[in-house]
Amino acid sequence: ESSKPLIITIDGPAGAGKTTVSKALSTRLGCIYVDTGALYRGVAYEIQRCNFNIERTAEIEDFLSGIELNLKMEKDGLHLYSLSQDITDYIRTPEITMLASSVSAMPAVREKLLGIQRSIAEFNDAVFEGRDMGTIVFPDADYKFFLYADLEIRARRRYSETDKKEQTLDEVAASMAVRDKNDSSRSEAPLKPAADAVMVDSTHMNVEDVVEKMMAHIVF
Ligand code: DC
Repeated sequence: ESSKPLIITIDGPAGAGKTTVSKALSTRLGCIYVDTGALYRGVAYEIQRCNFNIERTAEIEDFLSGIELNLKMEKDGLHLYSLSQDITDYIRTPEITMLASSVSAMPAVREKLLGIQRSIAEFNDAVFEGRDMGTIVFPDADYKFFLYADLEIRARRRYSETDKKEQTLDEVAASMAVRDKNDSSRSEAPLKPAADAVMVDSTHMNVEDVVEKMMAHIVF
């Protein structure tokens, strides 16, 4: 029915270009985009800031109930807030990146973020990007894409887009491989294409080509 918001999902491994493509696609469609990885990074940031020991699984739900994350679209892009603190600049470090992948395997964490993601979709046409958008969070999405590329290309792209080089190209590739494995092998909402997702291999494609390919599938 026409009053239902339009939902487009883009899943795939780290560095495949999901965020860049989601941004461009949302501009074309005049809707918002939601980087769900930022939410997992936000949880990781709070866990690190509070020195919460993630082995204490019995206490995780209590800990999570004290966390309030909000994504806000601002002039220079998407910002992540934890309560009123803008934590956008703190969630892309190598440590938070790896911790986000670890904490994302915890059912309580996924459960909390599931609610936040679905509530955004209630009132907004949106492009949602992450790992389980088409499989778990929005199984009935209007359009689903799975964006991937060879590891070496993904590592190169990620390396060239980070201004503060905290890792060498080889280190970026190695940590991506670890995350790919973590994210695809966990029992809870593993990274995998939805059965009805359109597969897009961006290894030899630039952003414009990928966006055109996706737009060609989206009918109004
Ligand atoms: O997209 P990203 O690299 O910013 O995501 C960081 C981590 O968060 C990623 O390694 C796995 C987790 N994640 C997830 O489990 N589910 C999502 N929908 C998005 C991210």
